[in-house]
Amino acid sequence: MEIIKIFDTTLRDGEQSPGASMNIEEKIKIALQLERLGVDIIEAGFAASSPGDFEAISQIAQRVTKSSICSLARAVPRDIEAAAKALAPAVLKRIHTFIATSPIHMEFKLKMKPQEVISRAVEAVKLARSFVDDVEFSCEDACRSDISFLKEIIDAVMEAGASTLNLPDTVGYRLPHEIGNMIATLSQHINNRAILSVHCHNDLGLATANSVFGILNGARQVECTINGLGERAGNTALEEVVMILKTRKDIFPHMDTRIKTQEIYMASKLVADITGICPQPNKAIVGKNAFAHESGIHQDGMLKHPETYEIMNPNDIGIPQGNGLVLGKHSGRAAFKDKIISLGFNVNDDELQNAFERFKELCDSKKEVFDDDIRAILGEETTHIPQIFALHSLQVQTCYGGHYCCAISIFKDDVKYSDSALGNGAVDSIFKAIDRISGFASVLKDYKVEAVSSGKDALAKVVVRVEFEEGKPALVGHGVDNDTMTSTAKAYLSALNSYLSMKGLIADKSGTMI
Ligand code: KIV
Ligand code: ZN
Repeated sequence: MEIIKIFDTTLRDGEQSPGASMNIEEKIKIALQLERLGVDIIEAGFAASSPGDFEAISQIAQRVTKSSICSLARAVPRDIEAAAKALAPAVLKRIHTFIATSPIHMEFKLKMKPQEVISRAVEAVKLARSFVDDVEFSCEDACRSDISFLKEIIDAVMEAGASTLNLPDTVGYRLPHEIGNMIATLSQHINNRAILSVHCHNDLGLATANSVFGILNGARQVECTINGLGERAGNTALEEVVMILKTRKDIFPHMDTRIKTQEIYMASKLVADITGICPQPNKAIVGKNAFAHESGIHQDGMLKHPETYEIMNPNDIGIPQGNGLVLGKHSGRAAFKDKIISLGFNVNDDELQNAFERFKELCDSKKEVFDDDIRAILGEETTHIPQIFALHSLQVQTCYGGHYCCAISIFKDDVKYSDSALGNGAVDSIFKAIDRISGFASVLKDYKVEAVSSGKDALAKVVVRVEFEEGKPALVGHGVDNDTMTSTAKAYLSALNSYLSMKGLIADKSGTMI
């Protein structure tokens, strides 16, 4: 079997999706799930781009041992040195350096002559090799580059020590047969001296098809993201490439990946929860409807033989079977723990206890508790962001003149603070009341609410994107409760806690933020 390496860039290119910025704790959670999923290389960030990215890479490098950890670096010494420093604790590590090679990028962006670009690339690879054994070089905008120039630069960087050569379709412009031809030509040229990699963007909806044509023509590494997240229209979706290789064994009889496909669903849910960007319902493999059979003819066929209408088994992706109905109010702690483990969560004793107490409360307020409800509770209980502010209670009422009034109590360091505010709507009044207590003000950039499972008594999950500082990326917050307004308050407080922990702000003994 030939192994196709899966290089996941959810934490780097994926984070470049508008609105997908993640904090360090969230990145660590995703990295640990990517390790469980079995990805070969995790691109954990771009160390030189910000102190937050540096710290995230460094912490992931300390925690993840089975996947290789990678940092992106422009072909400049400062970036490569930062990457090497952030990766220092990693068991397996890779520096990924890049420079643009297309005429338009070299002339207008870099303002460099092709020979200068080659020298810069060679110097970068040599410096990276002085820190690590595993160096990847990317020709940014390779798919609009001259093929003879590509041959020249990849020869030079291989000579300098790069062992993986990545050929991105940076602007998502190419068609599958064009990528196939490029990879076939370069594969013949390098003659097994390095691994060829594809990195395709989805501007024309062809990222997965282009990556597959890359594989068919000699690429042995695919760069991809969970749910296809990424800059603009996104990247190749990991789940799509992996399931194509698994499902079409007739076309790829001697190829495989190391991915444990049963972990795909969990990875998809986690990334969607953390970023607040959910795959569309009809998204291949992980969309809500990917295995739903609506028409009577299809349902009849499915009952007679699942393969009449299903080319993949949802079990292989880790999608829970049946209606996912879980335990009831009489279930004990041990059964609850078993359920959590079967859903793929790893919890410590405190998290288990808190989740169990919330599960019991839920059983009192909700007729049926589903797997998705348990997932939603666990998502909240396993957050490692310090709960500087925590909701105690709230009441929202309509009042005169079409206004809403929110009365709220919040804990900060075990001290309860109460206040109220008027707003133009219920959400506005909640945000204003919280701002009066916390002393922070923010701009709400996006607000989403969805039912976690089915039924009128379903839990409401609210995801907010909030800007605390003008021009800085908005932060995502989540809240889950039976009551939508309580979920809203929890979501805003979770974004606020994330902001405070990111800034390293903590309260002193008198409760003043320092
Ligand atoms: O799309 C691209 O060209 C990239 C490179 C930095 C690999 O993301
Ligand atoms: Zn990219």
